[in-house]
Amino acid sequence: MKTSTLFTTTLLILALLFTSCTRQESTMTKQSFGKTPDGTEVFLYTLRNKDGMEARITNYGGIVVSLLVKDRAGKLADVVLGFDSLASYIKDTPYFGALVGRYGNRIGKGEFQLAGVKYTLAKNNGANHLHGGLKGFDKVVWSVDEKASVPGESLVLTYLSRDGEEGYPGNLAVRVVYSVTNDNALRIDYSASTDKVTVVNLTHHSYFNLAGAGSSAILDHELFIDAGRFTPVDSGLIPTGELKSVVGTPMDFTAQTAIGARINENYEQLQKGGGYDHNWVLNKPLASMELAARVYEKSSGRTMEVLTSEPGLQFYSGNFLNGTHVGKGGVKYQHRYGFCLETQHFPDSPNKPGFPTTVLEPGKTYSSTTIYRFSTK
Ligand code: BGC
Repeated sequence: MKTSTLFTTTLLILALLFTSCTRQESTMTKQSFGKTPDGTEVFLYTLRNKDGMEARITNYGGIVVSLLVKDRAGKLADVVLGFDSLASYIKDTPYFGALVGRYGNRIGKGEFQLAGVKYTLAKNNGANHLHGGLKGFDKVVWSVDEKASVPGESLVLTYLSRDGEEGYPGNLAVRVVYSVTNDNALRIDYSASTDKVTVVNLTHHSYFNLAGAGSSAILDHELFIDAGRFTPVDSGLIPTGELKSVVGTPMDFTAQTAIGARINENYEQLQKGGGYDHNWVLNKPLASMELAARVYEKSSGRTMEVLTSEPGLQFYSGNFLNGTHVGKGGVKYQHRYGFCLETQHFPDSPNKPGFPTTVLEPGKTYSSTTIYRFSTK
């Protein structure tokens, strides 16, 4: 082969290699997930670690669409409930995988007072306000800070919630960083600042099933929650204000227990929630980053640990799932096919002076971190 031909061939090979690498890179990290009804295109970002753990996240609602985690044999399965298409998320979702705000969980009667001013929010859950209102952070298109994101490793989402949005005061600038780390964790770092005194309580709403999404109910999953107390609720699931001891009740998960072991007991709080749908008061010191809960699923060997800087944890046993949501792969999500562990400040804190405060003042930064870490046993 002539030197010039060899040179051209080498260049051609290098060029081909380069395009295939870049193409692979871009399809691996970002692809279209369709358009919202107003024509805004949203994307699906893939984060993957060295071990093959993979999260696919869309900037519509900051939703974790899938989360692939290995079982004890090294086989990956998707451990979160969700839909195949953006249209399904837009049509009707019980907050599958979403970022929830401005206030995760309930605010009684959709009202609160701040600095002498009364604020009225949407009542989108009976007489109460739930998960930020009619169009919470789960239903907005987040901006992606591509410069700050690390392709394949972290995704930086930002959203400016305008003064008065859903009835809340203050322009709130929110930043959420999702990362898939090499110790097999999905890490979520939240921060926010405001120009007027407001309330903030951000959380993440994945429904987990460690045996694989859509495979079965989660009643055999064994749960540990490091909490000696919980916040009992009224019939509208608004805390009464009491911090009640879990001792001697089916709310005691201080020793690892199957979720289904006591869920049907004749216990008033379980009846009010239709199962578990309560906030646990974590034992750890306020704002310190510690283990809050652990879940173990026998058949797969998967374990999930939840670490958080938040003082509370909403354990929701998927009581409102009833087979009407057709999830990924056409599978119907039946009663209790997924559970949520939502790290948070306590529900209705704006109306409960005794609870840790959710007030954010101008000049201060809200910050919160939660880690869902996976391993096998
Ligand atoms: C709440 C449940 C609610 C679910 C879906 C959970 O955070 O605690 O009561 O049904 O979200 O909206």
